[in-house]
Amino acid sequence: MRRVAIVTGAASGIGLGVAQWFARAGHKVAMMDRNGEAVRSASEELNAEGHLTVAFEVDIADRENLGVAIEKTRAAFGPIEVLIANAGISEYKPFLEMEVAEWQRMLDINLTGMFHSIQLALPDMVAAGWGRVVTISSMSAQVGAPNMAHYAASKGGVTSLTKALAREFAEKGITVNTIPPAIVHTGLSRRTEEVDGTNPRIEAMVQAVPVKRIGMPEDIASACEWLCSDGASYVTGQEINVNGGMYC
Ligand SMILES: NC(=O)c1ccc[n+]([C@@H]2O[C@H](COP(=O)([O-])OP(=O)(O)OC[C@H]3O[C@@H](n4cnc5c(N)ncnc54)[C@H](O)[C@@H]3O)[C@@H](O)[C@H]2O)c1
Repeated sequence: MRRVAIVTGAASGIGLGVAQWFARAGHKVAMMDRNGEAVRSASEELNAEGHLTVAFEVDIADRENLGVAIEKTRAAFGPIEVLIANAGISEYKPFLEMEVAEWQRMLDINLTGMFHSIQLALPDMVAAGWGRVVTISSMSAQVGAPNMAHYAASKGGVTSLTKALAREFAEKGITVNTIPPAIVHTGLSRRTEEVDGTNPRIEAMVQAVPVKRIGMPEDIASACEWLCSDGASYVTGQEINVNGGMYC
């Protein structure tokens, strides 16, 4: 069945992989990202292949503009049925040096931005009595991460938000699940190599992954597709560990 889906952070990495996967599976996809040029170009490429996507330059922390983009998605494609709340940032800072503004910015984007995205998209799903929300959290919320207290805390919030909404909307035909990736080959994971020159290259981290390969955006995308299918209607409030066995 063709669905109307929103993917946030769709200009690169996991979000781009998910948007491409969903568009190629025949769904109508609204691709949202604060990098307007990149998201428009990714959407144009998919449309040139014959798929149905629209692109919006939007910061998920800016509720007003996000609301406008979601309203334009409804006008273009109809009510929102699927939300992949993926957009997020990651930064490194020793905890004792962390400025309040850095802590706040992380929460504003990674947690409050997700709150805005879900709250603005959910009414359509409630009205339809069917909906799927997948949030992208992080293994750092499960096992911790040095110099990333703000990031790990924001992602822990995403997991809790996911579980709370799963229970609140379970009787409405809406499932809400989270995928906490470990190491996925994206711009974000590449940038972590460069932070201070001491982080291992992601290729070297393969040894730590039981399946002996780095995750790809497609690994996350195919799990999202299943979570958003009718067949996954009995799965809600779950952390689906798509991580090559790194955390069980
Ligand atoms: N790559 C990994 O190994 C990994 C591991 C754990 C969790 N994650 C999570 O996966 C998600 C995607 O990360 P990625 O690795 O694909 O990163 P990425 O940097 O490659 O892509 C993130 C995209 O989100 C966009 N974005 C960032 N802030 C935004 C905002 N405020 N509004 C709109 N768009 C915004 C960026 O422009 C970018 O296109 C993030 O939530 C990240 O925390 C990634």
